[in-house]
Amino acid sequence: MTPANILVTGGAGFIGVNFVRYLEANRPDCRITVLDSLTYAGNPQSLAGTRAELVVADIRDQQKVEALLQDREIDTLVHFAAESHVDRSIHGPAAFIETNIIGTMSLLAAARAVWLAGSGRPHRFHHVSTDEVFGTLAPGDPPFCETTPYAPNSPYAASKAGSDHLVRAWHHTYGLEVTTSNCSNNYGPYQFPEKLIPLFLLNALHGKPLPIYGDGQQVRDWLHVEDHCRGIEAVLSQGTVGEIYCIGGGAELANLTVIDTLCAAIDAAFASDPGLATRFPDAPAAHGRPSATLKTHVQDRPGHDRRYAIDCTRARSELGYAAQRDFAQGFAETLAWYLENEPWWRAVMDGSYRDWGERNYRDRS
Ligand code: NAD
Ligand code: DAU
Repeated sequence: MTPANILVTGGAGFIGVNFVRYLEANRPDCRITVLDSLTYAGNPQSLAGTRAELVVADIRDQQKVEALLQDREIDTLVHFAAESHVDRSIHGPAAFIETNIIGTMSLLAAARAVWLAGSGRPHRFHHVSTDEVFGTLAPGDPPFCETTPYAPNSPYAASKAGSDHLVRAWHHTYGLEVTTSNCSNNYGPYQFPEKLIPLFLLNALHGKPLPIYGDGQQVRDWLHVEDHCRGIEAVLSQGTVGEIYCIGGGAELANLTVIDTLCAAIDAAFASDPGLATRFPDAPAAHGRPSATLKTHVQDRPGHDRRYAIDCTRARSELGYAAQRDFAQGFAETLAWYLENEPWWRAVMDGSYRDWGERNYRDRS
């Protein structure tokens, strides 16, 4: 990747923030602008200490995006902005259609208007998507790869599938230089505590039930977010325009295995650091009881996909991509991050990060 002037949509969300931090550490020659509308999942505090400039705006505001691309001479757009939580898509699908489909179309239209005008200029539009577009796997099925047919099952997955098709069409029809990556379940620092790992971690610290959907035997391929960011950077620097790359963590685990790992790690942390019992007196581990006593089976998620898994052969052979963390290491680091960054998640839990965003950024959009 040559020095780039990058626009990161959704850069105040979980993976976007980690991508900004990854680029700053590994590609200090890049200039980064973040475009984010700061929904409930967008947290400007997560960008604190980075050099990225945050512009608060909606990806559906085509005029605004065109002005940004033009005025800042942006040559690379990495598109993370989305409604991303499956449970929310079941209860309120409309926002997913608006952001993930209409929003992606609006971004593509802006990119086409600015980058392909006249004789055109060098550019790249990278779209971040998900393995959920491929549907669900039976236990013995081969893992998803770039040629797996689409079969989205949730409103979220359907909206991401729609956005993938639009990106493909803008390449084939208009010649926009695009790449797409479809990745598996990310975990790591700065993840909003609605997703399995941060939700269960914070619930266990507060002595709240751990709500396991159905039998808990659903399988996900866990990918540390920094490995995902490394994969995206590899696609940007070495990927072929018009291609799709599947990025996974090589860590297929049943939810119950993840939950048992999480409970055991919390118990071990409390056993080796007596200060945790003072900080989190409601945790069972503070009283010598296993965190696993909080496990509670609840009604299954409607349409719940049973298994996801990713075959990274293309990313490995064409880009040299390989996940560098196994789940045990990645999870241990994630637990340590949440224990060390209590002010971050306290602000998320009590909503005060929203006020911070209003004070610091609303007037700069
Ligand atoms: P997230 O929900 O944590 O963050 C999404 C960000 O997008 C937020 O900052 C939010 O404010 C912003 N946003 C939402 N609507 C917007 C709009 N209309 N205009 C501008 N900004 C808007 O999501 P995430 O987990 O960081 O996921 C990032 C991307 O990666 C998404 O496209 C998601 O589909 C994809 N993905 C995520 C995972 C995962 O495990 N988290 C796995 C595969 C793919
Ligand atoms: O596979 C990639 C996808 O991973 C991304 O595209 C999505 O944006 C991301 O949210 C994630 O989707 P999942 O639905 O797999 O993630 P979630 O953390 O919501 O759930 C992981 C598994 O844990 C899933 O099988 C449902 C289960 N679960 C989840 C929650 C929140 C529970 O059993 N209880 C819970 O409370």
